[in-house]
Amino acid sequence: MPDEPEATAAEDQTHRVSTSGDVEVSTYLEIASEGARGPKRGDQSQQKDGDTSARREAIAILDFGSQYSRLIARRIREQNVYCEIIDPNAPREAVEGLDLRGIILSGGPSSVYEEGAPLAPGWVFDLGVPVLGICYGMQLIAHQLGGEVAPAAEREYGFSVIHRNDSSALLDGLEDEMPVWMSHADRIDTLPPGFRAVAYSENSPIAAMANDAGIYGIQFHPEVAHTPQGTEILRNFAFKVCGLSGSWTPGNFVAESIERIRKQVGDGQVICALSGGVDSAVTAKLVHEAVGDQLTCIFVNNGLLRREEPERVREVFQRHLGLKLIYVDATERFMTSLAGVSDPEQKRKNIGAEFINVFEEQAGVLGLVDFLAQGTLYPDVIESQTSESTAAHKIKTHHNVGGLPERMKMKLVEPLRYLFKDEVRLAGTELGLPPEILNRQPFPGPGLAIRIIGDVTFDKLEVLRAADWIVMDEIKRDGLYEKLWQSFAVLTDTRTVGVMGDQRTYQHVVALRAVTSEDAMTADWARLPYETLARISSRIVNEVSAVNRVVYDITSKPPGTIEWE
Ligand code: XMP
Repeated sequence: MPDEPEATAAEDQTHRVSTSGDVEVSTYLEIASEGARGPKRGDQSQQKDGDTSARREAIAILDFGSQYSRLIARRIREQNVYCEIIDPNAPREAVEGLDLRGIILSGGPSSVYEEGAPLAPGWVFDLGVPVLGICYGMQLIAHQLGGEVAPAAEREYGFSVIHRNDSSALLDGLEDEMPVWMSHADRIDTLPPGFRAVAYSENSPIAAMANDAGIYGIQFHPEVAHTPQGTEILRNFAFKVCGLSGSWTPGNFVAESIERIRKQVGDGQVICALSGGVDSAVTAKLVHEAVGDQLTCIFVNNGLLRREEPERVREVFQRHLGLKLIYVDATERFMTSLAGVSDPEQKRKNIGAEFINVFEEQAGVLGLVDFLAQGTLYPDVIESQTSESTAAHKIKTHHNVGGLPERMKMKLVEPLRYLFKDEVRLAGTELGLPPEILNRQPFPGPGLAIRIIGDVTFDKLEVLRAADWIVMDEIKRDGLYEKLWQSFAVLTDTRTVGVMGDQRTYQHVVALRAVTSEDAMTADWARLPYETLARISSRIVNEVSAVNRVVYDITSKPPGTIEWE
């Protein structure tokens, strides 16, 4: 029974499209959980070493399969309250490292009375901390604490209005009537003993409930933008019900993290692979602040980078930030491994394998290295903890800097394990990293190789770099760079006829791709101004001699992916 409102354009400013049940989401989960089975994240002892969460004031969010669990987490973190998403099947020990002050039970697609429906583990109610059940989470509370849940005569989906009919800390200070976003087919018919209804709607006599022990249930979704006072409700839960202090700030995180890295690493040696992107940059800077020159960074130029990118990375990290940096130009090796390869997945595999070879060699040259620092983010961690994946197909195997062979026997330092991307940027600002690093658009590990359709050659790379340079130049000139998730050129394997001067031409088609997105799982094509498109097209055709046509990709994700390969 679906409990999930569709994500709408209003959900955020990036025109997200629905992800409910979409294969891409589950694919990402599958890819991530495959990663978790590999040497990168599989070793529990490594994870413990990198654990930075110990005894931090926190809320735990038990995820019953809602596509909005992450959104709940973000909303809570926005209040400077630390939270973690936990698998409902996890044992009580999963929260033992936290100073747990509250628990949220998320929504989910099940019905509590169905056979095999996931339940809240007993420890949720035994710990004596406040609990907030959202939608399915509320129904669970009713079901498990002795109330009754039944299919509603009228399914409530979309906007609704709730009316307060009793006071409660959760709805304290809010209007007596407020619009909310509902999405449920079940409702609570009988309250569990000790509970009272604190709000009702037209179709739900019990739209919110509370007891005196700090257990609350709400039938609507406070985390979505369609519930305008939802953030206030989550704030009430965090501050008025759970009594949290709201001290999870980037400054605190940075100081705490540096201290932890120092403790973990002691006088050991650390290496970190820099990609030029924000995650590895913030990781390296944190470790450098903690242990200085015990950190050596390795930057592998695979020959598949954008124009001037290798120089820029060296400039920023070596000269500007003073990090010890080994620069390896492995262009020839990567190009050899790609010779004649046109299958996208094979390209990724070859590049991934070559990267590991180069990295391992360099680490070998350094001698004994105890730790590998890497910029694993919280979304990767959440995904890798998802026990079951329903993904039927794998769309792309994302190669990231990880998956190093077990024989390297290094412990992981993962200072960003508990951060979302926007928090990484805030931490980076706190650490004084330059904006051009922090606001850089994501760039895939396999680089330009997956933006050249067909096999990769030096010549094609040069053509693509030239076209891509123009795209970047114009996008930046029009102040669009930071508004876009990604913007780039793709060199297609199609040639078309054109006319230049009196000459007939038969040259490559370049595709322009520019998307808005929040997390790359969904994306929309950017409505670039016609003037920007016109200048990009005219400059590419005039300045890049191998190209005589430019097209603009107007496909959203899903069904398209962001990259063409
Ligand atoms: P797609 O093309 O799957 O991309 O919509 C989603 C995001 O992931 C990036 N991407 C990759 N990143 N290795 C990476 O490190 C890869 O193989 C890879 N493939 C895609 C892509 O640029 C986008 O940000």
